[in-house]
Amino acid sequence: MRKKSPVIVLIVLAMLTAIMATDSCVHQPYVLPEDQRTGDPDICFERDILPIFQSNCAKSGCHDAASHEEGYVLDNYANIVKKGIYPGNPAASDIYKSITTATGEDFMPRDAPALSAASVSLIKRWILGGAIDGGTACSTNTCDTNNYTYSGAIAPLMQSYCVGCHFAATEPGGSLNDYSSVKDAAVNGNLIGDISHAAGYNPMPKGGTKLSDCQITQVKKWVAAGALNN
Ligand code: HEC
Repeated sequence: MRKKSPVIVLIVLAMLTAIMATDSCVHQPYVLPEDQRTGDPDICFERDILPIFQSNCAKSGCHDAASHEEGYVLDNYANIVKKGIYPGNPAASDIYKSITTATGEDFMPRDAPALSAASVSLIKRWILGGAIDGGTACSTNTCDTNNYTYSGAIAPLMQSYCVGCHFAATEPGGSLNDYSSVKDAAVNGNLIGDISHAAGYNPMPKGGTKLSDCQITQVKKWVAAGALNN
């Protein structure tokens, strides 16, 4: 029998050690196999998930491109998924833990009210479906310009796109978290000027994507009809 080269023996030994170490110690959390990441049928990332991150997380001083606290920039799809998302596994995903089970300084958003149960549930379903960009629901347009009541259209819109920053009167730009505050902004003209990005106004949502034409029409119709608490 030929004598084995000591170098080869060493290489084989090193490989065996590496394989054993991977097997016994490094325990990677479960992720949904790529071919099963088909998304939740009701969720469109850009419409339902991104605005939650943009208005609650990608704020100045927090996780916008200029501040990137802890290296997290939560302003677009690529930046959100590359940090702490395990597709199919919300419980293991850092971002999901930070809005649900984390405590103290780690609970997000810091120094602001917790996300609504509806927002948390959307993020959970999005991760369960594979945390994909887009989604089949992007082609179903759920916005209807004939729906422009405060409770049916305006308040939910404020919750998704604005209240992350405008949750209290003491925040810059004031509150949009209750009817009378939204009505004040409607009456003084800032609401429509800001969301339609009109000259001389501050474009809102600040740093985020402009609302769709349908959403802007809903707000305009609501204001034109008297900005009622309906
Ligand atoms: C990322 C944080 C952020 C989000 C999200 C945001 N705003 Fe603002 N908003 C601000 C800040 C900061 C100001 C203060 C003025 C400035 O710095 O531009 C402000 C000011 C305002 C004002 C006061 C008038 C003015 O222009 O200064 C209104 C009205 C307003 N925002 C409406 C909205 C609406 C409506 C939305 C949602 C469609 C929204 N904002 C989303 C941060 C935000």
